[in-house]
Amino acid sequence: MKTIHLFANWKMYLDFDESNILANALAAQAKKNSEQIKIAVFPSALALYPVGQVLKDVGLAVGAQNAYWVDKGGFTGEVSVNMFKEAGCEYALIGHSERRHIFNETNHEVRQKLEAALAVGLTPVICVGETAEERRADKTEEVVEIQLRSALDKLAVGADAKIFIAYEPVWAIGTGDACAPGEAERMHGKISKIVTALLPKVDCKILYGGSVRPANVADYLIGPLTDGVLIGHASAQLDSFSEIIKRAGELAKA
Ligand code: 13P
Repeated sequence: MKTIHLFANWKMYLDFDESNILANALAAQAKKNSEQIKIAVFPSALALYPVGQVLKDVGLAVGAQNAYWVDKGGFTGEVSVNMFKEAGCEYALIGHSERRHIFNETNHEVRQKLEAALAVGLTPVICVGETAEERRADKTEEVVEIQLRSALDKLAVGADAKIFIAYEPVWAIGTGDACAPGEAERMHGKISKIVTALLPKVDCKILYGGSVRPANVADYLIGPLTDGVLIGHASAQLDSFSEIIKRAGELAKA
């Protein structure tokens, strides 16, 4: 059975104390997790260091939700990729749709963040996906292809580089209106083709994100082209995230 990646994007749902409480609870039950399951948590920038300290002893990773590409300097309010690396991050989300659509992050900025993340040894999780309007206009594939090409075309990557692509249709995020698993799997096939053509030597894993819940997680994970899921709301609560971990573990054993 393949390794299943469960990536927990806590967004701005949890404050410092709540993040630490949830991290401790996840650590306390980590012994029960299947070895086939790889978990990474993306807490707020402030909670990231203590959460990482709690999780590292039990084999769970942490990552940044966003990071700036310049190492150091006069960039008030930003945190750089190497600062996140120094704080213990293994991963960085790049171009999450909330960054793209609420904070107007462009494909060009996504590319700069991606290059900087790779340069400091963070594994990037590049988020792509279409809005409801783009979907209605039948532009899903076109939009995703543009996002992928602008991020990956002629990207200088080492032979051992790893990247993750998270297909997160914007209309499915935080709405309860999850993308049909067959449709997600079909998009993963398109994504895989594009990435392989652009970066034939890179180890690329594909995740689905958008209203993943305990009740539907297995429907995504059984897809042969789906290496895991990127979970928002349901990962920020102990009950639902534990249930997702349990269900993924059962599937890994099957
Ligand atoms: P939800 O699981 O809350 O829909 O969020 C998905 C997401 O944006 C993960 O990055």
